[in-house]
Amino acid sequence: MALIFVTRKIPDAGLALLREAGHEVDVSEKDGVLTKDELLEKLRVRPYDAVLSLLTDTIDGVVFDAVPTAKVFANYAVGYNNIDIKGAVSRGVVVTNTPGVLTDTVAEYTLALILALTKRIVEADQFTRVGKYDGWAPELFLGSGLKGKTLGILGAGRIGSGVAMRAHRGLSMNVVYNDIAQNAHIEEEAGARFCSNVKEVLEVSDVVSVHVPLLDSTRHLINAETIAHMKKTAYLINTSRGPVVDEAALVVALREKHIAGAALDVFEHEPALADGLASLENVIVTPHIASATTETRDEMSVIAAKNILAVLSGETPLNPVHA
Ligand code: GLV
Ligand code: GLV
Repeated sequence: MALIFVTRKIPDAGLALLREAGHEVDVSEKDGVLTKDELLEKLRVRPYDAVLSLLTDTIDGVVFDAVPTAKVFANYAVGYNNIDIKGAVSRGVVVTNTPGVLTDTVAEYTLALILALTKRIVEADQFTRVGKYDGWAPELFLGSGLKGKTLGILGAGRIGSGVAMRAHRGLSMNVVYNDIAQNAHIEEEAGARFCSNVKEVLEVSDVVSVHVPLLDSTRHLINAETIAHMKKTAYLINTSRGPVVDEAALVVALREKHIAGAALDVFEHEPALADGLASLENVIVTPHIASATTETRDEMSVIAAKNILAVLSGETPLNPVHA
């Protein structure tokens, strides 16, 4: 029997698997993110063999050292920028994530944001609900069409490719993309054209959607200088990680109409929003819910559990994030 600590309540599917395998699972009872001190305190209570962490937990050397018995930190997310991977590797701790099961869900959500933003659905809903609608009008809430327009994908991994494919097949958009390497899959599935630099993607795109992981090299990939390459009529979508966008620079660009609008599901200083962001009309903001379907959150729970079970039985986990 192993001891497993879960840093916050998640859907039960995976926890049930862990318990069925005979392990003891302690789930934090706090209805919220544990502070660093709370997390350290919890981890020191028992000699846990595994930890199931969330993207809202900062897992660094101090955390690993608080629970030296833990062989694995299974992150309940595809992104793992919250974990010090070097620190894990140097201590022989395995880190895993939950890719695959949220690809379609995040791609669908990204499409929903593209449609909602260009058709001004959120603004129009707010207008209608407060009783401002006083009859059909020829120029009420004019939005933008998408057919034949260009979608620029930054980061052509699973999710970026899934967005491209849906936009191409479902909305008849043309797709361009940039990534560190050319990707045959997105080219075949979405007729996407590779651009060797980000600037070219920004210059030609009507909608830019960001799907890179957060790395030193992608932090503030979208900033005042790069935004300046975007068309004045273009829209920016971010369902990846907040710090990929310099949010203060984006607020200025939106306010001064350097670009037409933005839809953000993630924020640079999450859960806080940059000053002025929430009062802009050409913006949609949602609380990091792109993967939040019942199906996907259950599957993420199962995958995280399977990763833990593999490590506990001395096998290679399904989704190690490092060699
Ligand atoms: C969500 O943002 C994730 O990385 O799973
Ligand atoms: C994440 O799953 C990605 O590759 O986009």
